[in-house]
Amino acid sequence: MAVEVVREDAVAVVTVSRPEALNALDRGTTAELLEVVQGLSADDAVRCVVLTGAGSKAFVAGADIAEMSRMSADEARRFAALGHSLMSAIGAAPQPWLAAVNGFALGGGCELALACDVRLASESARFGQPEVGLGITPGFGGTQRLPRAVGAGWAAYLVLSGRTITAEEALRIGLVQAVLPADELLPEARRLAAEIAAKGPLAVRYAKAALRAATATDLETGQGVERDLFALCFASGDQKEGMAAFLEKRAPRFSGR
Ligand code: CAA
Repeated sequence: MAVEVVREDAVAVVTVSRPEALNALDRGTTAELLEVVQGLSADDAVRCVVLTGAGSKAFVAGADIAEMSRMSADEARRFAALGHSLMSAIGAAPQPWLAAVNGFALGGGCELALACDVRLASESARFGQPEVGLGITPGFGGTQRLPRAVGAGWAAYLVLSGRTITAEEALRIGLVQAVLPADELLPEARRLAAEIAAKGPLAVRYAKAALRAATATDLETGQGVERDLFALCFASGDQKEGMAAFLEKRAPRFSGR
């Protein structure tokens, strides 16, 4: 198994582990990760997920080049579709996914980080879409999510040149939300995940869904989604508890209902 899942209360830590290939995603690992996403999505007790790579060198160094080197066009299309299913499943997951990028996040690795809701990076992390140097285009969503995350210019700079950027540069362009010393990365990712997990579970779930509408639809439609989800919160016990707790100056006890 190349994907490890460790449960820590309401937080799940998912680790991609293929040390022989800097955690590169071959078909098997991509399919396994998709199954993990589906399993965690169906588990109401999991309220936030941290995704990282095994070892100190790589988050995920891309799709597996050795495997891709032998693919036909038809196999490549199916591989891209599998990658797209994985990335979309993370986006559609009810819980927030936080990428803890602990090293190289190249090609499919950068795309995997982009599929997550929030990205934290270690100082040694490196980001890039080096595909054009291999004679291919990005295939796991990079041409679509990168412009949405950092704007058209930075996306074009990265995708067309294949250049790799540092964690600090990734922070500057908004690709990551924080840069931490290597030994602080997972502790901070766990802290953030635990903080999210302690908020109103339905509110976090609906907020993620509303945020998704921002890139999936036009403004009016997105505001419609926001209105509906805002209203739905008022049909929940969590809204009553959260507001009562504020007014009574005590900590809320959310039930997720
Ligand atoms: N696929 C398969 N194997 C990989 C790999 C990948 N993406 N990345 C690294 N490896 C393997 C290397 O082949 C090497 O294996 P051996 O020890 O058997 O030779 C091992 O991992 C260690 O890698 P290096 O010796 O190359 O380590 P390094 O420190 O010298 O370099 C690196 C690190 C800069 C990340 C370099 O490994 C590299 O450039 N990797 C490829 C990055 C890349 O191009 N990723 C994009 C792939 S295409 C893609 O992802 C398409 C898509 O959108 C779906």
